Amino acid sequence: MAGNSNAAAGDRTWPVSERVDIVDVSPRDGLQNEPVLLTTEAKVELIERLVGAGLRRIEVTAFVSPRAVPAMADSEQMLSRLPRRDGLRYSALVVNERGVERAADTQVHELNAIVVCSDTLGQRNQRMTTAEALRAWDRIAGMVRDAGRVPSVTLAAAFGCPFEGEVPEDRVVETALRAAEAGPAEISLADTIGVGAPGQVQRLLSRIREVLDPSIALRVHLHNTRNTGLANAYAAYIAGVRVFDATLGGIGGCPFAPRATGNVPTEDLAYLFERSGVATGLDIKRLTECVPWVSEQIGHEVPGLLARAGPFPP
Ligand code: COA
Ligand code: ZN
Repeated sequence: MAGNSNAAAGDRTWPVSERVDIVDVSPRDGLQNEPVLLTTEAKVELIERLVGAGLRRIEVTAFVSPRAVPAMADSEQMLSRLPRRDGLRYSALVVNERGVERAADTQVHELNAIVVCSDTLGQRNQRMTTAEALRAWDRIAGMVRDAGRVPSVTLAAAFGCPFEGEVPEDRVVETALRAAEAGPAEISLADTIGVGAPGQVQRLLSRIREVLDPSIALRVHLHNTRNTGLANAYAAYIAGVRVFDATLGGIGGCPFAPRATGNVPTEDLAYLFERSGVATGLDIKRLTECVPWVSEQIGHEVPGLLARAGPFPP
């Protein structure tokens, strides 16, 4: 099928791409803010279920202080028990060199560092301003490469900060260009508190795409706090983004951002793309079957809608 060419697609009116990558971040973002701590065994089962539903990229944990995020305390034990297979890639979040050292002793494939675009949330989340986090990222990227793993970076609070309010677009673009110097495979823009709207998402991603080294892939990490998550994902797609974070049932949130709520739901996002003619490689029916299980594990209902309504056509 012809890449992005609408003309070649003839009767189609939507943009056509071969496929998008959905990165399921349920075991990390999805669980880090839950009061109930899942056992290592339950996390392994969650990841096995995701693999069974077709996921080939999963963010499985964070190598951060267990005091800061108790739910991520078992990273090493969990990674040693995960299924391995060709084409299946696990990633983990890091904020400092200590995290990379720990990760280097495991079989994780990719490490994703965090640079927060606002100083206040940066200090609350990882005790670093944006400038300090960029310097840490330079060192982290080098260490990750030396360890034979793939470095990527997420720019958090890229669409707004819970403490400072609006984050200037110029600041986000400059942060992206500065982060690009360390040579990440991907730069992800995160709407940590779910305040972005589609016009803003499309404009900012398009601006960054125009100035960024084309060998660096753009990715988005969207929260659905104000019900704009799926619309934002599609706006990012129109702007050229092909890698999307999501969580089963839309669980998750940042423990350091007040009133943060869940990510875009993996199954709802997969449905949106598949029904728009964009392949995800995911088995939507099997994904929806995972949702009641995850809901039972965390002990409450989840916001995702597809698992309630059911896939279509049936
Ligand atoms: N893994 C495990 N432990 C770590 C660690 C890491 N990557 N980095 C630091 N620590 C430990 C230190 O050894 C120290 O332990 P101790 O008190 O038993 O000696 C403790 O954490 C505190 O370290 P300190 O350097 O004083 O940092 P801090 O208390 O100011 O916390 C961070 C700073 C960065 C470690 C902490 O804020 C953090 O881990 N944040 C991650 C936030 C996160 O995951 N957010 C959600 C995703 S964006
Ligand atoms: Zn998040």
